[in-house]
Amino acid sequence: MLDIIKKTRTFRRFNQDKKISEATLKELIELARLGGSARNCQPWQYLLITDLNTCNEIFPYLGWAGYLTDWKGPAEGERPSAYILCLMNRDWLKGSEKEAWFDLGLATQNLLLGAMERGIGGCRIMSFSPKIADRFNFPDKLGLSLVIALGYPVETVVLEDIGPDGDIRYYRDDQQIHHVPKRPLSEIIFKS
Ligand SMILES: Cc1cc2nc3c(=O)[nH]c(=O)nc-3n(C[C@H](O)[C@H](O)[C@H](O)COP(=O)(O)O)c2cc1C
Repeated sequence: MLDIIKKTRTFRRFNQDKKISEATLKELIELARLGGSARNCQPWQYLLITDLNTCNEIFPYLGWAGYLTDWKGPAEGERPSAYILCLMNRDWLKGSEKEAWFDLGLATQNLLLGAMERGIGGCRIMSFSPKIADRFNFPDKLGLSLVIALGYPVETVVLEDIGPDGDIRYYRDDQQIHHVPKRPLSEIIFKS
């Protein structure tokens, strides 16, 4: 469990030539489907995108790696080969949207863990333009809330403990290895 959780990092550079089938995405949605849900209302639906044209249409509307200010996102050839659009179905809400967002965290973590088990990496993208939703003409009840970009990673991502300066920003070193600082266990276990 620890191994797969450690491996399941956010990836933003992929082998664009390696396609992901809709059948694979359906297997991943099956993992999302079985996650816990407040009041068990399960308010999320998913649009699966695997065709190159639609991938190309979506790409310009995505915000990548805000801390890497001199990087404009993956170059042609390293872009995602599939996307999953996460849609909140307001007709299925029973409690608050806050509960629904919680559910989406659980569902997408299940999904990304299962993707990594298949060698597929992903990036949850909340920084996207609402213009993506215009492209699909979703009914009013469906709100586009999160985009998951998927592909076969071509970058190395490593975890490290946050240093004494407390900087939480991920960064890339000279070898383009992506470093993700995490708070050490000793800091997050609260002792009263
Ligand atoms: C809810 C959520 C929204 C995120 N939105 C973006 C985003 O818009 N663009 C991006 O490049 N990464 C995004 N990320 C990825 C985070 O930057 C990433 O999870 C964080 O740097 C820690 O890296 P790790 O996932 O490898 O632990 C998002 C992650 C989460 C959980």
